[in-house]
Amino acid sequence: MIGRLNHVAIAVRDLGAATKVYRATLGAEVTEPVAQPDHGVTVAFVNLPNTKIEFLEPLGEGSPIRAFLDRNPDGAIHHLCYEVDDILAARDKLKAQGARVLGTGEPKIGAHGKPVLFLHPKDFLGTLVELEQV
Ligand code: CO
Repeated sequence: MIGRLNHVAIAVRDLGAATKVYRATLGAEVTEPVAQPDHGVTVAFVNLPNTKIEFLEPLGEGSPIRAFLDRNPDGAIHHLCYEVDDILAARDKLKAQGARVLGTGEPKIGAHGKPVLFLHPKDFLGTLVELEQV
């Protein structure tokens, strides 16, 4: 069902500092930050030859990554994103197997303008999983 690894997301307190580390120290190409108020984050991507790294910085009071960063003040890997061909078919198949879909269970438009869903980390080896329809 899942296809390519679309990105690995890292939650960071300071997007500017994170961008500097990846640009200056690691020599990577990093996109300009984009605010995603619907998701409570500001996002930038590191473009690598085979995948991407997504930086997530909290945006607003109710940011869903605020508590995660309180537990991981230096930043930490937040989720993995796998590509699927049909997000509704994937969701229904996963739910039928007992997997928990976060939020309303309806796909939202993610940072790439494509539908995404998140799956409960307790069902996937302690790792938050994002599915993105490509
Ligand atoms: Co993501």
